[in-house]
Amino acid sequence: MNFAADPDAVSSLVRHDQVHKDVYLSAELFALEQRALFAKTWNYLGHASQVPERGDFFTLDLAGEPILVLRDPAGQVRAFHNRCAHKGTRLLTAESGRISGPVVRCPYHAWSYRLDGGELAAFPLKEGYEHTRLGESEAGRGLAPLAGFHVYRDFIFGRISPQGVGFEEYFGEILEGIDLMVDRSPSGRLRIEGGVLRNTINCNWKLYLENINDSVHPVSTHASAVRAAQSVLKGLSADAPKPLAFEQILPFGQKYDFFEQSGGKVFPNGHSITGTRFSIHSGYGAMPGYEAALKAARGEDRARQILERSPQNTVLYPSLALKGSPQTIRVIRPVAVDRTVIEAWNFRTLDAPELLFDRALTYSRLVFSPMSVVAHDDIHLFEAQQSGLRSQAADWVSLHREHDARELEEPTRETSGTNELLIRNQHRAWALYMGAGQRGPA
Ligand code: FES
Ligand SMILES: [Fe+2]
Repeated sequence: MNFAADPDAVSSLVRHDQVHKDVYLSAELFALEQRALFAKTWNYLGHASQVPERGDFFTLDLAGEPILVLRDPAGQVRAFHNRCAHKGTRLLTAESGRISGPVVRCPYHAWSYRLDGGELAAFPLKEGYEHTRLGESEAGRGLAPLAGFHVYRDFIFGRISPQGVGFEEYFGEILEGIDLMVDRSPSGRLRIEGGVLRNTINCNWKLYLENINDSVHPVSTHASAVRAAQSVLKGLSADAPKPLAFEQILPFGQKYDFFEQSGGKVFPNGHSITGTRFSIHSGYGAMPGYEAALKAARGEDRARQILERSPQNTVLYPSLALKGSPQTIRVIRPVAVDRTVIEAWNFRTLDAPELLFDRALTYSRLVFSPMSVVAHDDIHLFEAQQSGLRSQAADWVSLHREHDARELEEPTRETSGTNELLIRNQHRAWALYMGAGQRGPA
C-alpha cells in the first residue's frame, strides 16, 4: 500500500470505534508520521531550566531530525536545526553543554554561526567564495531556525514544518495542565533536576501514549506490585515510619469503580486529561505550611483548586504527558515503528517544601525507571502487544468501551475515567493529521 499517495487510505485505518493494526505495524506509516504528524504538530523540546546560562544548549531528535535548543548571548531561548549549513554535519553532538562566546563553530571546516539568529558569522578561505553564488544559496543563509517556536511558562515547544496551526490554537485549554504544574510553586518557578530516566521500549509510540490514558489496566497489570507493597507493609510495626513509596504504590490497587469515577476529558487535537475529579495521586499527605504559602501567593480559590486537582495524566498530544503531583513529566520520542524512547524528567518546585521534589524522584524511580516495580509490567505488555498485533487472526483493535456516536459532535467532552474515548480521541487526531494533514496546512 502506498499510503503517502493516498491520504484517504490512511484516514480509513481509524474507524469510530476500532483502529487498524497497521497504525502500529507499518514502517511506511511511521515514515509518513514523521512528516505529516510530528513535523506539523507542536512538540515538547525541553524546559528553559535546562539552559539556565547564556550559551547553554541541549540537543534532541524530533520527527527524525536533529534539533538544537540554546540560550543566546542576550538571554533568549532559541531553537535551530542542528545541521551545519556547509555540508550538513550535525553541529553539536553532545546531549547538552555550554558554548563560550557569541558563535557556535562547526568542528569539520570551522564555519561559525551567530547564536542569536543563526547567521553565518565566519568561515575560512573567504576569498575562495568571492564571485560565487554562496550568498544566494541555502548554505549562505546559515543555521535554520525552527519554523515554529514557542515558550509557554518555560516549557519549550517547536514545530518543524512552516505549515500547521498556531501554538495557542493547537493546544487551547489543555495548557491549563502546564499552569497547574507551574502554579504549584508559590513563585511560579520550576527547575528540572535529578537527570533524566530513559527507557527504550520495543513498541510503537501509540501503544505507550494510549496506556497513559488507560485507567482500566492498573487493576490487572499492577496487581503484583500492589501485593508486594502490601506484604512489606504488613511486616512493619504500626508505629514504624512509612516510606514514601507506600503512599505512591498502594493507590494502584484501587478497583474499577474508583477509576471509572475519577473522570476524564478530551479536547481537540488528541489532548486529554485522566483523573479530572480525583486520581491515584489525590491521597498524598497534606503540607500545612506550604498550603498557607500557596494561598498567600495565589489567593484562596486558586490555591484550593491547585491542591485539589491532581490529574493522573494530562496528555499534550503527541509528545508530552504531565503529572501535577508528583511534579514529573514523560516525553514520548518515537525512534522506529517498533521502538520508542520514553523520557521521565522531574521538577523541583521552587519555594516549596523538599517533600514535593522527593515525591517526584520517588515516583520516577518507582513507576517510570527501567528498574521500577511498576513500569516493567507495562513494558512487558507493550512489547507483547506489539508482537501479538502481527497475528493474522484479526486486523482491527477494539476501542468500543463506552463508545457513543454523539461524541463526534463534541470535540471537548467530559466523561468517565474508563471511557476509551480518550484513546479514540488520540487516533482521531492522528487520522486528521495523517489524512487531511498530508494535503496541506491543517
Ligand atoms: S560541514 Fe560544517 S563546516 Fe563543513
Ligand atoms: Fe501501567
